[in-house]
Amino acid sequence: MAEKKWFYTDIVKEHFFNPRNILKTDKEAEEFAKHADGVGEVGSPICGDVMKLWIKIKDNKIVDCRWQTFGCASAIASASMMSEMVKENGGMNIEDALNITAQDIVKKLEGLPARKIHCSVLGHKALRAALNDYFCKTGQKDRMVKDEKHTC
Ligand code: FES
Repeated sequence: MAEKKWFYTDIVKEHFFNPRNILKTDKEAEEFAKHADGVGEVGSPICGDVMKLWIKIKDNKIVDCRWQTFGCASAIASASMMSEMVKENGGMNIEDALNITAQDIVKKLEGLPARKIHCSVLGHKALRAALNDYFCKTGQKDRMVKDEKHTC
C-alpha cells in the first residue's frame, strides 16, 4: 500500500506543532488582555470556528500580537505565521498590516489545501478587527476599516 502523503507543507506543520505568539490558557489571555491596545474576534461562516487576537501598538507599529483559536491546523498555522509577520523587525506599521491578505499568509506558508483557504482568512480578519478596536478606543474612527462589521 502506498504511503499516505500529508496535505500540508513542512512550514504549515512546523507552525501547527509549534505555534508562535499563541496564548495557550485563559489565564495567559487575561493577563495579556490587561495591556492590549486592541482586541478582535471573528468567526468563520464556513466552518463556525473562532479566532480571537490581541495587539499592542507603539508609534503606529504593531509591537505585539497574540491570539487564540478554536480553528483547525490551517487556522493555527496561518495565525502563527501572520503574528510573526506583523512583529518582524520591531513591528509592522499599521498601514502595511492592514494590507496583509490571506494570500500573503498562504504564500509564506508555501501553500494550503484549497479547501482550507477560508481558515487563513480568520487570522487577518481578526487582526483588522483588533485594529478597528484600537482605532475606536483611541479616537481614530476615520482610520477604521470600513468593510468590517465593527462599530465604536
Ligand atoms: S476548518 Fe474552521 S478554521 Fe479551518
